[in-house]
Amino acid sequence: MGDLHVMRDDLRPPAPPPKRHLISIGDLSREDVERLLATARTFERSLEREMKKLPTLRGRLVINVFYESSTRTSSSFELAAKRLSADTMSIKASGSAVDKGESLKDTAITLGAYDPDVIVLRHPHIGAPQLVARVTEARIVNAGDGKHQHPTQALLDLYTIQEQLGRIEGLHVAIVGDVLHSRVARSNIQALVLLGARVTLVGPPPLIPRGIEAMGCETTTDIDAIGAADIVYVLRMQQERMQEGANYVPSLREYTARWGVTPERLRPGQKVMHPGPMNRGVEIDPLVADAADALIETQVRAGLVVRMAVLYDLLTTGPKAVTAEVPVEVA
Ligand code: NCD
Repeated sequence: MGDLHVMRDDLRPPAPPPKRHLISIGDLSREDVERLLATARTFERSLEREMKKLPTLRGRLVINVFYESSTRTSSSFELAAKRLSADTMSIKASGSAVDKGESLKDTAITLGAYDPDVIVLRHPHIGAPQLVARVTEARIVNAGDGKHQHPTQALLDLYTIQEQLGRIEGLHVAIVGDVLHSRVARSNIQALVLLGARVTLVGPPPLIPRGIEAMGCETTTDIDAIGAADIVYVLRMQQERMQEGANYVPSLREYTARWGVTPERLRPGQKVMHPGPMNRGVEIDPLVADAADALIETQVRAGLVVRMAVLYDLLTTGPKAVTAEVPVEVA
């Protein structure tokens, strides 16, 4: 009898790996981040070949659902899925049944009927990714939920820093501007602190959330503080997220005069980053944006390989993956 039990257990198919999502940088350990960055590096090498498509996710379905406008994030997720041979579909809120008042839950259930492996979601409300995770079987990648999180942006920024400066640990990053409305800032603070960087937030007091130091960063209103940083990370003034009537800054002109990142405020050799889209002449001087030390285009390129790594990781490996074994044979 006992033997039979053993037999049954042996014959039972192995338990499927736990369903995982990427909703917040808080979902990741340092080891997870390092594995993702290493996988992205492997994919970057694979893209140097003439034949850029890998068969890795053939037969998988990745659906991108964007309820807010996006250029970089949506295009790079789509291309990332295609480069890995997955089938892709992109749904934009405008032009879909969302225009007819369909709720996020019903849209998610509808898309869930196609059995997608991954749903990439951008939505103006915090918590939208968790809702979709509850009503579908898909793995969810948060491509931005309100002011909360944008984890793949932080990962591509870490990748850019690691590739350009050779390390993250011990570097000093100044994040300048509209932290209050920025999911990019929140994700980046968490990610940079996790990897041992020092983070200083710089901006007008109404745009620096009270108590944010609890995330492990410093804050200052003094723009000259950026001079001490290795990297100056400029945030967009996110006017569409500012409450009407609230006076965050006296005027954009005054903001630019006091906190705009200009050549005079930078040291030679300081690296400058921006998640895009930029308001040239507001938070960043065009001369800074176009200078050789700006890593803004490099960030966009990193977005592709990092999103390939995220899709690959969610669908094939998991925490114990050996990244050196990423298959690179052509389709
Ligand atoms: C960011 C976003 O949407 O949060 N953009 C992006 O993903 N590249 C930053 C922003 O909109 O300012």
